[in-house]
Amino acid sequence: MPVENSRIKGLYKLSVQERRKLVTEAAQLSDEHTNALAAHGELDETSADRMIENVIGTMSLPVGVATNFVIDGKHYLIPFCLEESSVVAAASNMAKRCLGHGGFSTNNDDPIMIGQIQMLDIDNLEQAIANIHDEKDELMAFCNDVPSRMIALGGGCKDIEVRQISTPMGNMLIAHLLVDCRDAMGANAVNTMAERVAPRIEALTGGRAHLRILSNLAGHRLARVHAVFTPEEMAADGSREEGMAVIKGILEAHAFAAEDPYRAATHNKGVMNAISSVALACGQDWRAIEAGCHAWTTLSDGRYTSMSDWTQDDEGNLVGTMELPMAVGIVGGASKVHPAARANLAILGVGSAQELAGIILCAGLAQNLGALRALSTKGIQAGHMKLHAKNMAVSAGAKGEEIDALAARLQAYEGHRTQSLVETWLAEMRQG
Ligand code: MEV
Repeated sequence: MPVENSRIKGLYKLSVQERRKLVTEAAQLSDEHTNALAAHGELDETSADRMIENVIGTMSLPVGVATNFVIDGKHYLIPFCLEESSVVAAASNMAKRCLGHGGFSTNNDDPIMIGQIQMLDIDNLEQAIANIHDEKDELMAFCNDVPSRMIALGGGCKDIEVRQISTPMGNMLIAHLLVDCRDAMGANAVNTMAERVAPRIEALTGGRAHLRILSNLAGHRLARVHAVFTPEEMAADGSREEGMAVIKGILEAHAFAAEDPYRAATHNKGVMNAISSVALACGQDWRAIEAGCHAWTTLSDGRYTSMSDWTQDDEGNLVGTMELPMAVGIVGGASKVHPAARANLAILGVGSAQELAGIILCAGLAQNLGALRALSTKGIQAGHMKLHAKNMAVSAGAKGEEIDALAARLQAYEGHRTQSLVETWLAEMRQG
């Protein structure tokens, strides 16, 4: 179950322990989950050693929760795992600004992944394609004839598509297995299925099966978000006049990203600031998600563009939409074995992979808006530096009360703020 109310005022003012206690109560976490989030309860070395090869230790990153998210009528506290300041604060701030219209709404596809089988050395491609179509039901039945919880729950191979491509290495037939992965991300199941069915496709086509691997461009597993922000919500002073100016600035910024790949890469990095860090917090394969999201943006007209879309409706409201492939799972992989990932999924209280996909997308849209709003008004550095000042003080070697004192001095400083300046101030402070 998600939380009852994600609108928690002043969370940032509490200590880490106080926040963890509050989130534990709000999300009704078990002791095991709460302890997994505490620094001492993270991934143990024995588990780490089972995850990858040549393990020499583990490495931590902060987990922070974004507040104010109302998605499809439910309240969520959203855990982010990342090293960059301002991201969690900006997402929380933007999530608050669409509450007038009820928050975010999502619409997420069934969890269909694509398994690709690359067929080479086929003499008659048309005949090979016809043979696969004729035998499709038998091929799918063969794919699904394995003991599998995913298939028992209604998943499994649901369709087979065939494509032809021309390459410098000759013409190729590419078979796509469309596999419903239910609540799993599905990489293992899809790869196993592709390898198992490949000899049958060889027999049907007279060709040679080469690569047999899932596609990270999960174009049948899309998540979609829609949110409406009134001018008053977008303004710093609550006025319609200022809000209309802010919205115009955001639309101009979006137009830049939509037309210019150099800007789109940075714009989309802002979207991925949230998508990747919520995915990481929840034990997802964030590299797979990133690959899919970036590739998807090039598909509609063959060029790299903005992941998000921002328009203005007849009432002057800002309308944000985004559609991206979202291959996530809540069973299997790190989402099941990493203690902190399990705790973060418990904070979200999600009941399905589709629900998680929608939440991640909302976080991405909110994050994108936070960046666009800051960039098109007072610039990104003011807010960033506020949170960054403490990091700079710590990097300079400040301890205890020195940190707040240095951060406050840095924030008030009008000149160029550099790390060496903070180090000089610290040395002066210590000399008295
Ligand atoms: C920084 O991590 C992300 C931004 O550059 C995104 C953007 O420019 O839209 C602020």
